[in-house]
Amino acid sequence: MRVFVAGGSGVLGRRLVPQLVARGHRVTATTTSSAKLRLVEQLGAEAVTMNGLDAASVGEAVARARPDVIVHQMTAISVTHAGKADLKHMDRWFAGTNRLRTEGTDHLLDAAKAIGVSNVVAQSYGGWNGLRQGGWVKTEQDPVDPMAGTPAEPGMRAIRHVEEAVTDAGGAVLRYGWFYGPGSTDDLVEPVRKRQFPVIGSGDGHTSWIHLDDAAAATVLAVEQHVKGVYNVVDDEPAPAREWLPYLAECAGAKPPVRIPAWLARPLAGKVAVTMMTEGRGFSNAKAKRELGWHLRYPSWRQGFKEELA
Ligand SMILES: NC(=O)c1ccc[n+]([C@@H]2O[C@H](COP(=O)([O-])OP(=O)(O)OC[C@H]3O[C@@H](n4cnc5c(N)ncnc54)[C@H](OP(=O)(O)O)[C@@H]3O)[C@@H](O)[C@H]2O)c1
Repeated sequence: MRVFVAGGSGVLGRRLVPQLVARGHRVTATTTSSAKLRLVEQLGAEAVTMNGLDAASVGEAVARARPDVIVHQMTAISVTHAGKADLKHMDRWFAGTNRLRTEGTDHLLDAAKAIGVSNVVAQSYGGWNGLRQGGWVKTEQDPVDPMAGTPAEPGMRAIRHVEEAVTDAGGAVLRYGWFYGPGSTDDLVEPVRKRQFPVIGSGDGHTSWIHLDDAAAATVLAVEQHVKGVYNVVDDEPAPAREWLPYLAECAGAKPPVRIPAWLARPLAGKVAVTMMTEGRGFSNAKAKRELGWHLRYPSWRQGFKEELA
């Protein structure tokens, strides 16, 4: 198939494009920066520059590539696009990403419609943001938590937009867990090494993790099978922060994280960090494994962290 990967130069795109190429697909992949065209070509794709927030730029790039499938992997979370990671002010940190998940999604869907493509696969998020009611592990039936009254609220609204717009158009949305793998955990490991990433309160809040290569493999299957609807693309073991964080520190050769009460963490780290670590809900991958025939190379973060962070 001819596959158009919007955001092919990001941490996931860099693992996805080679997997698509290895399966015999012809890939066009985008970056916003002409300095990265060579990098994208080296992944095996035809490289193009495109601004996902500019309808004309998206329309032209898609029309020229004439794809059978469009994959939306555009975010703006890196230092280059968003400045330093800032969970306390997540609304500011994620402002560009939220636009790419709303306006960017709409531009891609318009471009897809213009060339008669309904096979669209888009990135969503299913790390710790499951609905904070009932059990610790959520299925695709559960909407993501609105995180009302926190700086994560605009981000969750943007996620709902991607999910509704893409599935309404006959496409699929992949709720990836929290990424780890090449180039994706530097922002996390650095504060863990400095003991600036504490376990907050009970640490009962759950997170689902996913290795980039497993996320890419599920994406290839979704592309090839033209599936529709929402899929949780996470590993087998959603886990509480009190378990994964000390283990991550150990794998990274750091001292154990400190523990601080929620009342103290709230003014220091903000509401989002406290919610994530005390009330977060993870996600189940049963549907993706069953329907896509997806087999994980890293079924648990326990094995994955050991290999990636050592
Ligand atoms: N589920 C998760 O845990 C998750 C999901 C996504 C990202 N992250 C994390 O966020 C961090 C940064 O991710 P990243 O390295 O992939 O970088 P990123 O800055 O989020 O960029 C991702 C992709 O989107 C493209 N992009 C950015 N702005 C665009 C725009 N206006 N129009 C079109 N494309 C645009 C980028 O192209 P350029 O070549 O121009 O930069 C890149 O290809 C990493 O630590 C990663 O692990 C985590």
